[in-house]
Amino acid sequence: MTQIKPMKIRKAVIPAAGMGTRFLPATKATPKEMLCLVDKPLIQYGVEEAVAAGCTEIIIVTGRGKTTMEDHFDKSSELEASLAAKNKTALLEVVRSVSKLAKITYTRQAEPLGLGHAVLMAKEIVGDEPFCVLLPDDIVDADVACLKQMVEAFNETGSTILGSEVVEGAAISAYGCLDCTVDAKNPQLLAVKNMVEKPKAEEAPSQNAIIGRYILTPRIFEMIEGIKPGAGGELQLTDAIKALLQHEKVYGFSYKGKRHDAGDKQGFLRATVELGLKHPVLGASFREWLKAFPV
Ligand code: UTP
Repeated sequence: MTQIKPMKIRKAVIPAAGMGTRFLPATKATPKEMLCLVDKPLIQYGVEEAVAAGCTEIIIVTGRGKTTMEDHFDKSSELEASLAAKNKTALLEVVRSVSKLAKITYTRQAEPLGLGHAVLMAKEIVGDEPFCVLLPDDIVDADVACLKQMVEAFNETGSTILGSEVVEGAAISAYGCLDCTVDAKNPQLLAVKNMVEKPKAEEAPSQNAIIGRYILTPRIFEMIEGIKPGAGGELQLTDAIKALLQHEKVYGFSYKGKRHDAGDKQGFLRATVELGLKHPVLGASFREWLKAFPV
């Protein structure tokens, strides 16, 4: 079993080339990752979390019809000039800060052939170093950014770390599921023995689900190249991580925080209310309005 010497995590890959079918018709012409949660698009939450974890290079995997993401993070000279001319300095600062968040590069996935395939598109840009993967439709509300917590765990172990949470009952059938034991020294770490993708509830080895946060060692690329397409002809990242288990240690990580599945309509609605209530400017008046709302 090879143990990789911990290296500083600098890069985060954000796969954003999927079709977003659960959110149709909103996602027919608008990328799911550009849906606005409270006051900014989902993908911005993802980029901000990666930056909070210490990443300085963000690689967004993009596809057809997704160019608004690039415009969002680009400098907008016309808009800036117009806001400056009108002395709208606070808004000008908001607009400028978005384009200065991090160095963002884009790589294309010509067809959405699965999460494993999307991550493989970043192979050359990532190179031979460990990196984060963050799925932008999983929004994690946490005092310490979820990826930052995971980077700290990676610095301890030098191993692949999968964000994980306990889900109730049959809900496990919607996730990758960990067959694991709790680490004796750090109860947030789960030593992974095996993984099962979307198990039947009665066959699930645990209630520990994998969420959309990963720290991966670079050997994952070789593993993705070695696996065969699974359901729907897609290359599954979980299959590649399963293959990685033959070579390296893999840990689940029970992060502290609350996740919202914002790629799902119900999850998005709940996230809108919860994050709206916490918003530093809008929260108080939104709370008052909700109190008076007839239910
Ligand atoms: P999802 O499965 O949640 O996204 O993938 P989806 O396929 O777009 O959504 P549904 O299920 O059809 O509603 C999680 C993330 O991985 C990206 C998606 O864009 C999303 O951000 N992804 C998924 C890719 O980049 N490429 C793929 O082939 C699949």
